[in-house]
Amino acid sequence: MENFRYQNTTEVVFGKGQTALLPQLLKEYAPANPKILLTYGGGSIKSNGAYDQIKTALAGFDLLEFGGIEPNPQYSTLMKAVDIVKAEGVNFLLAAGGGSTLDGTKFIAAAAKTDSADPWDTILEKQTPVTDAVPLADVITLPATGSETNGFSVISKKEETKKLAFWSKAVFPKFSIIDPSFTFTLPERQTANGIADTFVHVVEQYVTHPQDCPLQDRQAEAILLALVNTAPRVFANPNDYQARANIFWMATQALNGWLNVGTVQCWAIHAIGHELTAQVGVDHGRSLALVLPGMWRQQRKEKGEKIAQLGRRVFGISGDNQDEVIDKTIARTISFFQSLGIHATRQRYGVSDAVISAVAEMIGSRGVKIGDRANIGKQEIIEILNLCD
Ligand code: NZQ
Ligand code: ZN
Repeated sequence: MENFRYQNTTEVVFGKGQTALLPQLLKEYAPANPKILLTYGGGSIKSNGAYDQIKTALAGFDLLEFGGIEPNPQYSTLMKAVDIVKAEGVNFLLAAGGGSTLDGTKFIAAAAKTDSADPWDTILEKQTPVTDAVPLADVITLPATGSETNGFSVISKKEETKKLAFWSKAVFPKFSIIDPSFTFTLPERQTANGIADTFVHVVEQYVTHPQDCPLQDRQAEAILLALVNTAPRVFANPNDYQARANIFWMATQALNGWLNVGTVQCWAIHAIGHELTAQVGVDHGRSLALVLPGMWRQQRKEKGEKIAQLGRRVFGISGDNQDEVIDKTIARTISFFQSLGIHATRQRYGVSDAVISAVAEMIGSRGVKIGDRANIGKQEIIEILNLCD
């Protein structure tokens, strides 16, 4: 096991009606008499009940609002919120919505505390460590990213066809309210995206080379097994509270940092997926479902043992022939994505040869190979994307 440091400072407040606890939570985590900016996306919080519950809970609080944060949150939009935070003296941010709204709010929190004239350049391009941020919390409404209990934020800049991430202890949410009943309104496409994203978060931390970390392996397999078994229930009945609650907790645990302690992680599927989203606008979860089969085929030698272990322990594939088990595991994973309604093909998402070259060029130009073996560069990315579908 590798040396590690582990800390997760977010309080999770889980369950139906928990938004009513906001005043109590703010008393604990926000400055006295806070000036709060409520951030949200395109309006889903107004139809799923979150907005009304937040407004009711925060009646009497000094509350400003900033809506319109897009899926794959855009730098230019977020900087408008940074201006409001600075001009109005906002000292607490409350994000309500999916991972994009929360990631965007983490960036607003960090950018509002820097003197940099160009926070995109300093925080995202140069990765200058973020040591201070406006405190933030969230009412998360989409089980997918795990952003509710981590310090990651992924931001896009369409003018430069870029999508970049930063991580900081300073942007861990102080608390995250997870009320699964807010997810009843999710369109099937977003439900599917979230399940695919959760599956691949586990894969990025688990399908590496064997690392003799049996507890982390079993924790990863537990999430995958529970996810595969529970997913059909939310499609059969979108108002199944128990199924929605379980899916949310799986998504949260998949990226709260437990699975990767003491291990070397991969994240190459995400690196390529983010570039595909920047290039062709494909949803995050779908970009991952597209890249995964190509990744496993191209990295078959390096990842074969863990692919087969996943196949045996999660999908119950049997047999002594390792190659056959690997092939069956790839096929079974693709059919799991298809069972969610995700039929990920390059043609469907407009991933042409020119797009493949652009993605390989962008990642290759950073000069660092990706993957748990640091063995995936420009040429390998081209091979991987040609092995997708
Ligand atoms: O914008 P609104 O109107 O809120 O609608 C959203 C959006 O259109 C809608 N939605 C959210 N909750 C809903 C709902 N619709 C109905 N009912 C609800 N309860 O869903 C759409 C997609 O929302 P978005 O926030 O974009 O989705 P998601 O949570 O999948 O977030 C994706 C973003 O997170 C990043 C991705 O790259 C992408 O930018 N990621 C963040 C990570 C992190 N912070 O740790 C890790 C991930 O790997 C990922 O990269
Ligand atoms: Zn993801």
